Amino acid sequence: MEVLETQRLTIRGFQPEDWEDLHEYLSREEVVRYEPYGVFDEQGSQAEALRRSADPAFWAVCLKESGKMIGNLYFQQQEPLTFRTGELGYVFNSAFHNKGYAAEACQRLLEYAFCDQQVRRVTAHCDPRNTPSWRLLERLQLRREGHLLQTGYFKHDHEGHPLWHDTYAYGILDSEWLNSSQADSQRRKV
Ligand SMILES: CC(C)(COP(=O)(O)OP(=O)(O)OC[C@H]1O[C@@H](n2cnc3c(N)ncnc32)[C@H](O)[C@@H]1OP(=O)(O)O)[C@@H](O)C(=O)NCCC(=O)NCCS
Repeated sequence: MEVLETQRLTIRGFQPEDWEDLHEYLSREEVVRYEPYGVFDEQGSQAEALRRSADPAFWAVCLKESGKMIGNLYFQQQEPLTFRTGELGYVFNSAFHNKGYAAEACQRLLEYAFCDQQVRRVTAHCDPRNTPSWRLLERLQLRREGHLLQTGYFKHDHEGHPLWHDTYAYGILDSEWLNSSQADSQRRKV
């Protein structure tokens, strides 16, 4: 697995030793609120870091300065592979939100996907109530392609009824990404 760099971040494959940094955020309710799982205990985080170490879809995002892992990206090429479509996901430690780290890491991964992996289309999905998530996607220039109603549930209410959630579907094509990143670099030159 490649190691990607940005100004402030190193983006690399997971290692089993990442479990403590992983636990620091997977044990926080505000981080897992919209994820298909609940908070992790220490044993669960150890197993999860091990599992992710063998799964190239997971990328650990680390601060260059200290090496601390502050979050992760997820990028899974969809079947059939000939469609060259990948699904993007991200989860960051809430102690490191609102600093532009998620956008910086995703931007680099999109560049890698479109320029080095010949990906043609990237999709992402989130709960409409997860405002930081869709704001991030729009900052990355993904287009909202739909608001899907009651697509599923991850949790139940206290009477055991499913808590159905909606989904925003987002997407961007390689041609759109190229145009927007060329426009960005033109803007930076001015
Ligand atoms: C979704 C998530 C990754 C977004 O993280 P984030 O920190 O809001 O996103 P960014 O890295 O793009 O940071 C953007 C904010 O940092 C601010 N910022 C501060 N310093 C900055 C800098 N040096 N560079 C860029 N932005 C900076 C920006 O102004 C922006 O704030 P704004 O939205 O009020 O304008 C985060 O909320 C998260 O991990 N949530 C829990 C897990 C989750 O729900 N995942 C998604 C499931 S679909």
